[in-house]
Amino acid sequence: MLEQLLNKWGIAKNTSMAFSSDGEIKSDAHNFTVVNPSTEQVIFSAKYSSKDTHAKIMQAASVAQKEWAKVPAPVRGQLVFELGLLLREFKQDLALAISFEVGKTLTESLGEVQEMIDMADMAVGQSRMLNGLTMHSERPQHRMYEQWHPLGIVAVITAFNFPAAVWAWNAMLAVIAGNVVLWKPSPKAPITSIIVQKICYKAMAKTNVKGVFYLSLLENSEIEPLIAANKQVPLVSFTGSTAVGRKVATSVANRLGRSLLELSGNNASIVCKSADLAQVIPAVVFAAVGTTGQRCTTLRRLYVHAGLYSEVLERLLAAYEQLKIGEPWAPETLIGPLIDENSFKNFRQTLKTAVALGGTVHAGAAKVSTQGYFVNPAIVSAEPDWPILQQEAFAPILYIMPFTELTEAIAYQNQSQHGLSSSIFSQSLKEIEYFLSISGSDCGIANVNMGPSGAEIGGAFGGEKDTGGGREAGSDAWKTYMRRQTCTINYGSELPLAQGINFECKQ
Ligand code: UN1
Repeated sequence: MLEQLLNKWGIAKNTSMAFSSDGEIKSDAHNFTVVNPSTEQVIFSAKYSSKDTHAKIMQAASVAQKEWAKVPAPVRGQLVFELGLLLREFKQDLALAISFEVGKTLTESLGEVQEMIDMADMAVGQSRMLNGLTMHSERPQHRMYEQWHPLGIVAVITAFNFPAAVWAWNAMLAVIAGNVVLWKPSPKAPITSIIVQKICYKAMAKTNVKGVFYLSLLENSEIEPLIAANKQVPLVSFTGSTAVGRKVATSVANRLGRSLLELSGNNASIVCKSADLAQVIPAVVFAAVGTTGQRCTTLRRLYVHAGLYSEVLERLLAAYEQLKIGEPWAPETLIGPLIDENSFKNFRQTLKTAVALGGTVHAGAAKVSTQGYFVNPAIVSAEPDWPILQQEAFAPILYIMPFTELTEAIAYQNQSQHGLSSSIFSQSLKEIEYFLSISGSDCGIANVNMGPSGAEIGGAFGGEKDTGGGREAGSDAWKTYMRRQTCTINYGSELPLAQGINFECKQ
């Protein structure tokens, strides 16, 4: 299946290319390999972009950006429109690549490509709505307004878990805003990024456009010197761990550049006494084990009202028992493998620590096959103050804890250093509104009667505290990819100064 896919897209199993906007450039940096997490077999090898190759890409990007910026925004939208059509056409191919490389189940991989299509559709409309405000001037015969200009080159650094959609969140908006996009994908998902790049070539050819999309398979250690510290890149969008994000942000800030951070999450849900358990159980299962617990939005901490605790735990365990774990491309599979050996070891170690702390591990622990990084998702009866509750294990481990008062549950929830997503299950208006009030969730996303994951693209996506504060995708996230210019026009023949200042000079 993978062979066919690579052949169809003209990708050599052993590629040595970096991808400029209009074709491939040979790189002489060293090789890296991709391991299929379901089989532990090496399925692909590629060369990292060398410093030279990367410099060539940057050079081409900065020349092309100046032209692209002059294209009217609604015309820029046509490129994204084409991209949306092509993503529909090649949805299955891209989804398969994602399933092979990162082990995501086919249904979730298809969902990821759908997220790209949704982003394209929204960005097309947005290309006609890069609107600024007009203000009333305090001076007679003056007019004030603001307008939005492109930034230049936008670098998009993505993680393995959403190897395509997060690029789309950024790229679709960056492009309609008049920027060109330099993509640094995860070294765990190069095939996906190469297919996306080839789809971009097709979209550019169809709309007679050059120089908008670039792909540089840089080594992670080159992010800091070649992107974060590089003045040629006015905006660096980074998705990944808090530790790396902090370094990237520091480096970007040092040159007074702009960064957009989507870092780790450590998300919680609160199940109130009034909750409808018919909603709670499936929502919690999807949020905790979907994508094998490897979403930034994965549910990691569940606070359940003491009166419902035993029933919720029992029903969750019954549901967990029926989860189909297996090859991600099999239609009935709900849980694929973890991404790699390290992640598997980390899963096991975290559960050992939980046991050492006195916790009870339900399900989980064992590797469920001899090949591949498959695990049984775990539920752990935990204590709210355990230090490991501050760590995002990035695996399907759900900590469950009882509470008695909603204020107590919210305090537990907000104890996390991260602030991405949160949710409450309740049928009480008072509880729901309290959770959404300033005394409630401190996260960027707050959901009601659903889990914390699975956001639509129409809202702004991102979180507070150690999650980094960035906002991507919907709402007014497009503004991050543009610079605001405030314009004041004097159409009279006098020269009144603001704040009534009298400054008479002889001339
Ligand atoms: C991520 O895990 O980096 O809300 C993104 C969600 C998805 C995106 C997750 N739409 O779960």
